[in-house]
Amino acid sequence: MCGIVGYIGKKNCVPIIIEGLKRLEYRGYDSAGIAVINEAKSTVIKNKGKVSLLEKSTENVNLNSPLGLGHTRWATHGIPNEINSHPHCNHDQSIMLIHNGIIENYQVLKTMLIKSGFKFISDTDSEVIVHLIDSFVHKGYGLFKSVRFALNEVEGTYGIAVISTKEPDKIIVAKKGSPLVIGIGENENYLASDVNALIAHTKHVVYLEDGEIAEVYADRFTAKTIEDEDIQKEIIELTMNLDEIDRGGYPTFMLKEIMEQPDSVTNSMRGRLIFEEGTAKLGGLEAVLNKLIHSKRFIISACGTSWHAGLVGEYMFEQFLRIPTEVEYASEFRYRNPIINEDDTIFFISQSGETADTLAAMKEAKRKGALVLGICNVVGSSIARESDGGVYIHAGPEIGVASTKAFTGQLTVLALITMLLARKKDMSLADGKALYNEFIQIPEKINRILALNEQIEKIAEEFKDSNNFLYLGRGYNFPVALEGALKLKEISYIHAEGYPAAEMKHGPIALVDENMPVVFIAPKDSTYDKIVSNIQEIKARKGRIIAIASEHDEEIDKLVDFTIKIPDTVRILMPMLTVVPLQLLAYHIAMKKGLNVDQPRNLAKSVTVE
Ligand code: G6P
Repeated sequence: MCGIVGYIGKKNCVPIIIEGLKRLEYRGYDSAGIAVINEAKSTVIKNKGKVSLLEKSTENVNLNSPLGLGHTRWATHGIPNEINSHPHCNHDQSIMLIHNGIIENYQVLKTMLIKSGFKFISDTDSEVIVHLIDSFVHKGYGLFKSVRFALNEVEGTYGIAVISTKEPDKIIVAKKGSPLVIGIGENENYLASDVNALIAHTKHVVYLEDGEIAEVYADRFTAKTIEDEDIQKEIIELTMNLDEIDRGGYPTFMLKEIMEQPDSVTNSMRGRLIFEEGTAKLGGLEAVLNKLIHSKRFIISACGTSWHAGLVGEYMFEQFLRIPTEVEYASEFRYRNPIINEDDTIFFISQSGETADTLAAMKEAKRKGALVLGICNVVGSSIARESDGGVYIHAGPEIGVASTKAFTGQLTVLALITMLLARKKDMSLADGKALYNEFIQIPEKINRILALNEQIEKIAEEFKDSNNFLYLGRGYNFPVALEGALKLKEISYIHAEGYPAAEMKHGPIALVDENMPVVFIAPKDSTYDKIVSNIQEIKARKGRIIAIASEHDEEIDKLVDFTIKIPDTVRILMPMLTVVPLQLLAYHIAMKKGLNVDQPRNLAKSVTVE
């Protein structure tokens, strides 16, 4: 949700900022802008549209400056246009600001500032911050104090960076609720909303925490709390590499990430499975294991694809652990005053570890005394840092907006947690070893599914002009039906619904006619016969059926229009396989419609606003 970048040093900041913005474009891409200061003179360039357009505009002006800020926007307040894009400036363009987040009391502040003579030109909430800072500068305060005083007046969330022509030796940054990281170089420093924008320049970073503000010079930085207490920040060394955030020869990040899944799943389980004991070892849970295993209830809270992983987790936990489990949308969870007890464990699943609703729900659960665990991909993210413990999925950076490899990584970790706890409860050593044996075959089985890519592309050709889709599954594969439908909606803009296969009779069946494609997730498991009945019901109404079926199932070919045959595994691991053809199907349909799958309209990878 909005990417922010900044540079202070000796080099020309413009190409550094443009390149950083391109790496952050997955966070928002409706408009972009840059502000630089050179010899006490500021220049601001903004564009509606992608960073590539901004790049062209900067080339025409031939900017050269050692200090600057850049922003790529995902609109909240005010339509995407040049005026509403960041940086925002005060009246004489001596102060420039970029902001990620939402200022909730901006109307009140705006009215107050207008009364005092400040002129607003945009419809954004962000613009109030720059005028507020200016109001303190007018009273004679320096930039740092003015930013600090201004932030004391705003309510809401922010990751901000501010520069001024009057103090061109520094960038002021602050954070509350939106991520902000400082990159430490040699006689140069960087800042960004996430490390992807920094990794080409430095591996040494400092994460600001909520309520912290820092003054970043070319050769040093100092940090304080908004309340003015001095703080020491730790410099962390990143282990990530630049090639992890490149497309690596694939036409899109999404296809790269789908194809990477045999490796990413291997990484999610690496070093964590112990054959001799038929169990899993998860370092991030060791300190809390006792409390975890004696929990009376589990709650899983998340958004989007991560919420679907949570639904699969519910099946796993209840089947193997017999611990009652509820799955909650993080946005609903935090606002309905949920009943949380001290003997509850609440898992928060988030690829980015920054989703505002999930983070806020986690803070609320922590306040109420529950054990709070994170399942995140981004190392060092807010959810990972603020939880009592947790497990990283180690899927590597996910850049495509539609989540793919993070989902299979989340399923891997949920199954590992289940295995670990089940072995401490009722699961026998023999069953643990059998599960181990199934687990280690998953990457190779995903590889076999990926080899069906061309076949799936042909099916996509058949259905690319459909207006609606139904996805149906039972048990563990019901959440996979939801995820398949979400993938299609997100990137192809085709309306799609996921449903429990049997529930389809209570409504969606009314939609079925010869134009309705219905995707059945129908592996040969204990619900297979029931699914076949559901297939017959759709067939009787002339629906066109695509089935994700087991490799050796020949019966199903006679019933459906298209089959995608995949390897089998045990039920708990099956969603890691069944989701893969659905990712490819959505991908090829969207590509055939000529759409940008990595940056679908209106979406953002990391939703850091509520
Ligand atoms: C956004 C993304 C989804 C993602 C969801 C949750 O809506 O577009 O792909 O599943 O946020 O994100 P998280 O980072 O918390 O898993």
